[in-house]
Amino acid sequence: MKNTIIAPSVLAADFANLQRDIEMINASEADWFHIDIMDGVFVPNISFGMPVLEAITKHAKKTIDVHLMIVDPDRYIKTFADLGANILSVHYEACTHLHRTLQAIKAEGMQAGVVLNPHTSVGLLEDIINDIDLVCIMSVNPGFGGQSFIENTYSKVEKLKAMIIRKNTSTIIEIDGGVTNKNAKQLVIAGADVLVAGNFVFKAENPTQTIADLKVLTTL
Ligand code: DX5
Ligand code: ZN
Repeated sequence: MKNTIIAPSVLAADFANLQRDIEMINASEADWFHIDIMDGVFVPNISFGMPVLEAITKHAKKTIDVHLMIVDPDRYIKTFADLGANILSVHYEACTHLHRTLQAIKAEGMQAGVVLNPHTSVGLLEDIINDIDLVCIMSVNPGFGGQSFIENTYSKVEKLKAMIIRKNTSTIIEIDGGVTNKNAKQLVIAGADVLVAGNFVFKAENPTQTIADLKVLTTL
């Protein structure tokens, strides 16, 4: 049986009621908290930074999965470890020395993730896949929640899954952007292990039930 990890994206939460939304995720069947950090340079948007992450980790009782959409992420690896990140993912497109960055993340006791923009081929990870704990395939262009899912994602997931099997690694595959009950199951069949969902969860009439339904839909 395959149990898919569901990671609600806090970017879509109500920031005036952040503690309420965090407790909702704590009490739900969700597995992780997905945290989007944007710097207004790597992506055309600014989300939130360290004080907000500190407030989140104070209440969150599940794995903290941090997605850095920032240039030169090496500058902040230790800071995110100190703030309680369990998984730290950096963009392939933002790292000149990706291998060094991944080692630095692991040296701080976190799991190391690499995120690929929609235009970045999974084949570029061939020589580094054994050093990566998690690959996140962006299924929208990063920077905003609530965008529509890019259909080409399925074939990227299949290619990456084949590479992971061929290379005999335990790397897991995360999908981020536009995930709904319309594409969740097909993504898992293609090889996804973790589904991030922002608007689909938080804008739902009943977010707790929506998470539970996603969980059932993606348990194969
Ligand atoms: C986009 C972020 C996503 C976003 C997902 O740049 O990385 O994590 O919050 O939100 P939805 O699920 O609404 O597309
Ligand atoms: Zn994200």
